[in-house]
Amino acid sequence: MAAPLQRLFPRGLSTSRDVERWTGLPYLGSIPRAETAASQSHPSAAVVEYDDPALAAAFRTMHAAIFEPRPAAQIVALSSALPKDGKTTCSVALARVSALSGKRTVLVDCDLRRRSASAELNNRPAAGLLEVISGQATLDQALYLDGFTRLSLLPTSNNMYLVRKAVVQDVFSDPRMAELVSVLERRFDHVFFDTPPLLAVADTRLLARHVDTFVFVTRWKKTPREAVKTAVDLLKSTRAPLAGLMLTQAPPGAAAKPHVVTAPPLPMLAGRRA
Ligand SMILES: Nc1ncnc2c1ncn2[C@@H]1O[C@H](COP(=O)(O)OP(=O)(O)O)[C@@H](O)[C@H]1O
Ligand SMILES: [Mg+2]
Repeated sequence: MAAPLQRLFPRGLSTSRDVERWTGLPYLGSIPRAETAASQSHPSAAVVEYDDPALAAAFRTMHAAIFEPRPAAQIVALSSALPKDGKTTCSVALARVSALSGKRTVLVDCDLRRRSASAELNNRPAAGLLEVISGQATLDQALYLDGFTRLSLLPTSNNMYLVRKAVVQDVFSDPRMAELVSVLERRFDHVFFDTPPLLAVADTRLLARHVDTFVFVTRWKKTPREAVKTAVDLLKSTRAPLAGLMLTQAPPGAAAKPHVVTAPPLPMLAGRRA
């Protein structure tokens, strides 16, 4: 779309008012675009590297916006309409913030097809979620501990046989998944699920039964608002509890501001001000 038209008919959401109007969800805040070369290649590392303080501060503020009003939320899933909305980046960053704050935290890579969280933290996991569910590995064999943050990762390995089987057998509705989740609940204070896009596959809807709180992720001005609305409605239809929506990759300061309607000044007041 040409730039002037895009200003008149924006594709995506960019203000808290857009969020509330299009989704009915509370607006949780925004995560800015990474500003430094290092944080652009690994934005979730900002919370440990301190090379992009604005990004690190935004992740910490978002963590507070999710957990302070709902301290009992133990299992949190990040979800979005489409690929590239920022789910994995935010899952890894928020899980790191939890772990750094002293909470026993595990991040579960539930995106069986892309496995981006696994790649971000532990390049080639030999065993993971599917090996545990199928009895080929114990949970302790599959968990990977990040030494610096003390974040545990339950990765997904690239065992294509297990991945295909999991996909066709809807592994997230298998009773063994429910058993695993209850073990994770006993061992950890915070459990994060990184999920695949809602509009691409049914997995997230199947996961919903295990989740205390969903956080919906949308890319600032980019994710088409119709896609956001459809995905939010899908999630609402599972009766999943939804904490709200966060915008990602916003220009610094832009989306953090609530929508302000600037009315033209009344002639009388304008005169008095002059
Ligand atoms: N705040 C950010 N600033 C800059 N780049 C970002 C930011 N968040 C995500 N990205 C980049 O956008 C791309 C998609 O993000 P990702 O978290 O993998 O999305 P998803 O999991 O929804 O597919 C990645 O290349 C990631 O590095
Ligand atoms: Mg992802």
